[in-house]
Amino acid sequence: MLNTDSLLKSSIATKAVETEGSAFVAQHYNNWKLGLPWETVLPSPKQMPAIIAVGGGKGGVGKSIVSANLAATIAQYGYRVLVIDMDLGCSNLHSHFGVAMPKKTLADFVLTQRLGFRELMQPASIPGVAFIAGGKEESWSEYMEQSSDHLLPLWQAIVASKQQSKVDVVLLDLGAGTQRHTMDFFSAAHLGVITVLPEPTSIENAYVFFKMALWKLIENLGRRYHQPEVAQDIKAALSTMVGSSLSSGYTACFRELALSYPQFMQDLTRTMQARCHGILVNQARDQSDIDLGLSMEHVCQKYFGFPSKSVGYLNYDEAVLKSLKNRRLLVSEFPHSMIAKRLSVAAAQSLKILGIQRRS
Ligand SMILES: Nc1ncnc2c1ncn2[C@@H]1O[C@H](COP(=O)(O)OP(=O)(O)OP(=O)(O)O)[C@@H](O)[C@H]1O
Ligand SMILES: [Mg+2]
Repeated sequence: MLNTDSLLKSSIATKAVETEGSAFVAQHYNNWKLGLPWETVLPSPKQMPAIIAVGGGKGGVGKSIVSANLAATIAQYGYRVLVIDMDLGCSNLHSHFGVAMPKKTLADFVLTQRLGFRELMQPASIPGVAFIAGGKEESWSEYMEQSSDHLLPLWQAIVASKQQSKVDVVLLDLGAGTQRHTMDFFSAAHLGVITVLPEPTSIENAYVFFKMALWKLIENLGRRYHQPEVAQDIKAALSTMVGSSLSSGYTACFRELALSYPQFMQDLTRTMQARCHGILVNQARDQSDIDLGLSMEHVCQKYFGFPSKSVGYLNYDEAVLKSLKNRRLLVSEFPHSMIAKRLSVAAAQSLKILGIQRRS
């Protein structure tokens, strides 16, 4: 039996439902009462905003550029898009929209609960796009590492934004690294896009990111079933099995583990199949860089067992720096550049994965 009473009574969670709630949030509240922004199978993007999380594990790989400009491109396809800077420590999404750090930031909602979620939304210079700035809050990471409770109101507000603010798509610009809250939101999204540079350290970090995403789902299931020790066993077994036969990957080990933990492994597989990972190569300079996306797609499907899909690549382009210096959004400043075209392809591919038709 799940012991969810204490979290149900959590004042933070209750306040969030009252202030940001909607019929849909209330209806699905049971699914979130574990305090985790996560469900085995997410409601479809028809009921809540389609959520795209942009991560990568490494700093400076282009997560914010991708988030801001994908948002603008998706809006051009006829959708209302909200981009959220999920890095409350070193946030810089606002710079990509060409504005100074706004006074109202996500920290005011998550940490001090001083402001409601809707008060934070700033209209961007592009029609159909709003963004929420992060902050320069040093204690953010500490807070988030201590407890998942802080995540619940934020997740609920994001979900409720479909009905409350008519948001169709939410883009989460995740911070660097694989901290707990980063992996929570990555795992909670319908589509998790991993941004990778064609260089060994970035590729290595991207694979670590994939592994941490798998670990996160295993740990969440362990918590859901109150079987953290089973989750530990499975992680340890996967590490040992893969270590003994590097070519087989995790999926080959799943069958063996299913003999000992049939329900757990069945649910884990279902959870993984309900999400998709996109791979976006940034700063590509030649064909071998471009090809990296497809080879990573293949490795991730075979090795980790996640449905994975390359969403394309962005070429290295001086226009990126120029637009930042001019304090203008890249696709507004250089709408006919090669990189704007590549962003358009990545946006179309992302919508296709999400099963969303272009409106224009
Ligand atoms: N396609 C590109 N062409 C040229 N330069 C690029 C490209 N992509 C990123 N850059 C450079 O990399 C820098 C970092 O990009 P960005 O801020 O989007 O990374 P990030 O992953 O969000 O970083 P952080 O982890 O610090 O949040 C940019 O300021 C820009 O100078
Ligand atoms: Mg960034």
